[in-house]
Amino acid sequence: MTDFSKRAKDKLSKLSGTQIEGIINELSDKNEILSSIFQSLNTGLICVDRDWRLLCINTAAEILLPFTVKPEINDTKSVWNYINNDEIKEFLHTCHYENKINLSEQFSILTSGGDVRFVEISVSPLMKLNENIGSIVRIYDITQDKNREILMHRMEALAGLTNIAASVAHDIKNPLGAISIHIQLIQKAINKKRSSDGMLPAPKFLENYLDIVNEEIDRLNKIVVDFLMAVRPVSAKFELANPDKLLSEYIDFFKPEFENKKIHVDCQFAENTPHIMLDPKLFKDIFVNLAQNSLQALENEVRPEKIFSVRSIVRDDKYIICISDNGCGMSDETASRVFEPYYTTKANGTGLGMSMVYKIVKEFNGDINVESEQGKGTVFTIQFPVPQAGQKLICGE
Ligand SMILES: Nc1ncnc2c1ncn2[C@@H]1O[C@H](COP(=O)(O)OP(=O)(O)OP(=O)(O)O)[C@@H](O)[C@H]1O
Ligand SMILES: [Mg+2]
Repeated sequence: MTDFSKRAKDKLSKLSGTQIEGIINELSDKNEILSSIFQSLNTGLICVDRDWRLLCINTAAEILLPFTVKPEINDTKSVWNYINNDEIKEFLHTCHYENKINLSEQFSILTSGGDVRFVEISVSPLMKLNENIGSIVRIYDITQDKNREILMHRMEALAGLTNIAASVAHDIKNPLGAISIHIQLIQKAINKKRSSDGMLPAPKFLENYLDIVNEEIDRLNKIVVDFLMAVRPVSAKFELANPDKLLSEYIDFFKPEFENKKIHVDCQFAENTPHIMLDPKLFKDIFVNLAQNSLQALENEVRPEKIFSVRSIVRDDKYIICISDNGCGMSDETASRVFEPYYTTKANGTGLGMSMVYKIVKEFNGDINVESEQGKGTVFTIQFPVPQAGQKLICGE
């Protein structure tokens, strides 16, 4: 209650009928202004009591949320009963039953027109004189931001693809040139022999040329296979699994190779490892690529103790793995380009290992970072989301 209405209420018995009428008119005007502000907001707003029964709702909320039927104020049912989207329902449920406050999630909604709308919903407490009397649900339309993000992603991917395609076209030219020259040489040799004695050149002579042609065809094949690996999106078969259990299996398998090279393998796993959504085959590819790079970074180094370390922790709904080595480390240039397809500093490297790792981590909705110092070592930190009850992630594309 505002100061004005409180004072008016206290003095009500002393006021004349006209004065009371004036106050009611003033309050009604104010109420109308507040109500039109509430209804004109672009942000959807819903206020509910402690049992999530509807107290008020504005037009934006009615447009942005998919309701089965329009919920009525003071209806006895909780408001989520009227929402026609299981993920949003579950989210609001979680906010209520787990008594979580200030939660925010993003959702995708298929509209009746067949379009996809992205909304961010946040829930915070509704307070009256320091008492929690319910919740405020805010609904933001983030469709434009999301679409812009998706477009940016596509443009970046396209620019990356153009660069790769240009370098692959360049790489293909050399073996093609060599094949063409050697076929011409074979042709010339055959013509020459035919016009002199009508015979074919000696098999050994032809085989030498054909061997070179075959080698160049193998080279072409490898370029094409690598290219497909670089550009093909990874397709994951997700399942809920304990990542530490898988990591410890991979480490057991790799340990002898490290120990042969006098590298100490150090592992420390999280205490309450959660199950996360992953594809075990791709999860193994992440580990294998990182372990191989560490092995190569360590093998030629001279150190009192060479260490390859794998640690996992759980923090803020994230499962985090740190894979580090005290090997040769990277220059700033290498660290900034490590996830680029075809970037390698090794004579026999393809430069595709870490770009594959990056693609898989992103497919798992995770994130990967690198910290490295030349001559000292490297740490890769990978974060994966831990699935929460009521949480659903938006598919980017
Ligand atoms: N642990 C590490 N220590 C030092 N440098 C690293 C490490 N991991 C990656 N790098 C650098 O990043 C580059 C790219 O790594 P990536 O695994 O993508 O390709 P590669 O190892 O060169 O080739 P491939 O994986 O095909 O054998 C490497 O050439 C190397 O310079
Ligand atoms: Mg590698």
